[in-house]
Amino acid sequence: MDDRNLALEVVRITEAAALASARLMGRGDRKLADHVAVEAMRRAFDTIDIRGTVVIGEGERDEAPMLYIGERVGHGWSDNDEDSPRVDIAVDPLEGTNLCATGAPDAIAVIAIADDGQFLNAPDTYMEKIAVGPEAKGVIDMRESPTWNLQRIAAAKGKKVDELAAVILDRDRHSALIAEVRQAGARIRLIGDGDVSGAVMTAREDSGIDVLFGIGGAPEGVIAAAAMRCLGGELQGRLRFRSDEERARAVKMGVKAEDHIYTTEELASGHVMFAATGVTRGYLLDGVRFTGGGARTQSIVMRSKSGTVRLIDATHRFDTKPSYFAAGGR
Ligand code: FBP
Repeated sequence: MDDRNLALEVVRITEAAALASARLMGRGDRKLADHVAVEAMRRAFDTIDIRGTVVIGEGERDEAPMLYIGERVGHGWSDNDEDSPRVDIAVDPLEGTNLCATGAPDAIAVIAIADDGQFLNAPDTYMEKIAVGPEAKGVIDMRESPTWNLQRIAAAKGKKVDELAAVILDRDRHSALIAEVRQAGARIRLIGDGDVSGAVMTAREDSGIDVLFGIGGAPEGVIAAAAMRCLGGELQGRLRFRSDEERARAVKMGVKAEDHIYTTEELASGHVMFAATGVTRGYLLDGVRFTGGGARTQSIVMRSKSGTVRLIDATHRFDTKPSYFAAGGR
């Protein structure tokens, strides 16, 4: 795919989703915030000249009306335009639905794109993850303990372990992990949700975060891996099933060894691009700021081929935009 121009087009899709869901920030309705983000993103796809297939989305066809796995999106399909690129799409229209519903930091709208067949078709289950930025790429190993990994990351970054900061989802299942990281002496930022942002932070020097540890969603793991490919970082992941039903579904989707540790490239290979727009203000991105008749957004856009990372500040005028931008998708 010629992803140079596409990357700048694609950011309009995450902007649309962010603008829609940000209207519902703090309203306590995570489902509605997600719903308007999905609708806005789905409509924005129609303006982009691609023939995309959703491989990571809102769920199976029978459970999600839009952006379901297998759905074809993009203007290229309606024209049957042989010249428009065929791509795999991974979306999370509102990553951190609770963060948006409560106005907490780091809710984002996110999309990753790869050539056909380059994303792991991750089942909707959990994934244990460890992610680091470029300086610590190649020194981590998920088979080893968090303490071992912290020591290796500290050495690679020329820091002491007590100068490292880990980001971990605040969940009961992480109590032993949190205790060990504390015991090792590292600092922790516990987050309520949003481990895609958490992973990306490890590769953004100004975030002050050195490593992501813990179990979160597997689809989010693939999206975060796409980001790490662009940023030169590393994410390792191992699927964690919550039930036999999930296990059976994964086998159907082609997952072979249950305990396989996926490398960043196995999760997202080939040329990939990643775009995210801030919904609520966070450590990664500014949130949507409504300005009266318009809004400002901040997005990050990047491509693995060039490694260029662009932060895009946009000023939107609702009087000149398609309705899904202005009206929050409703
Ligand atoms: P939603 O956006 O669907 O609410 O997911 C947010 C999230 O925190 C992800 O970032 C993370 O991977 C996953 O949920 C963790 O799942 P759980 O809330 O079940 O621990």
